[in-house]
Amino acid sequence: MTHFLDLHKTDAGELRRIITDAARMKAARLGRPRGAPDDEQPLDGQMVALIFEKPSTRTRVSFDLGVRQMGGQTMVLSGRDIQLGHGETIADTARVLSRYVDLIMIRTFEEQTLLELAEYADVPVINGLTDRTHPCQVLADVMTYEEHRGSIAGRKVVWSGDGNNVCASFLHAAGQFGFDLTFTGPETLEPEAGFIDFARSRGVRVGIERDPHKAVAGADLIVTDTWVSMHDPQSARERRHNQLRPYQVNERLMAGAKPDALFMHCLPAHREEEATSAVMDGRHSVIFDEAENRLHAQKAIMRWCLGT
Ligand code: CP
Repeated sequence: MTHFLDLHKTDAGELRRIITDAARMKAARLGRPRGAPDDEQPLDGQMVALIFEKPSTRTRVSFDLGVRQMGGQTMVLSGRDIQLGHGETIADTARVLSRYVDLIMIRTFEEQTLLELAEYADVPVINGLTDRTHPCQVLADVMTYEEHRGSIAGRKVVWSGDGNNVCASFLHAAGQFGFDLTFTGPETLEPEAGFIDFARSRGVRVGIERDPHKAVAGADLIVTDTWVSMHDPQSARERRHNQLRPYQVNERLMAGAKPDALFMHCLPAHREEEATSAVMDGRHSVIFDEAENRLHAQKAIMRWCLGT
């Protein structure tokens, strides 16, 4: 079964193939209305279940649109609609869904839910975000970087702020695509050692730098994300804001990177918190290209999973 669970679990050559396919499909759609079908219809007759246990704008819309453009159909299920891990075991849900649909995308809380679903499903499962990782987002981000600046291999990426699930997938991507990553943020919000170890095991440099202005020197890309993620307790909000304020990506911080550095944020953003509007709407920013590329990257991921 070809699942797409995390960037470190898929061969680097396959990840490269997915990005190449995504770029090809994106180019083939240039100038077309969003609702128009692709020339190729690789998902013709296929049913895709999109399960959301957490809110989503980009993941929900881009997966749904992507399936339709490729000729398939979707079934969007919220955590409230189904009995995932409540009235019914995850294993049984996986077995049942496998009798109805050809592919499952799930956004959930605990990674274990994703892994159990994948273990017992007879159809491919795609990770649409867990508390630990967000591989679809970061594959789209690598594609976005390369559209603007060429190969990401050997570049310096700086993650500023909370070492959350997107940061974790950036560390997986560093190892798989061969770029260096410096984390700058509070010690208590550093990414888990296992993510850092994976990147280092692939021979790339992972730096930890408490001072954000030192961290961004020579950076090709600065990335940040919201200070309080969906799975973080709201009671931690004030403390996190105080801890993370020095890591805000503003014009002064951006000016410390290379002159042609890019700025990324997976969105949704809290403007004037983790990043200022001046940066988000400024000349370094590619945030809306990232959002668009979720569509193209995920279409290629679905084709890869289904072998179509
Ligand atoms: N970046 C991202 O995954 O956005 P959504 O939460 O809106 O899907």
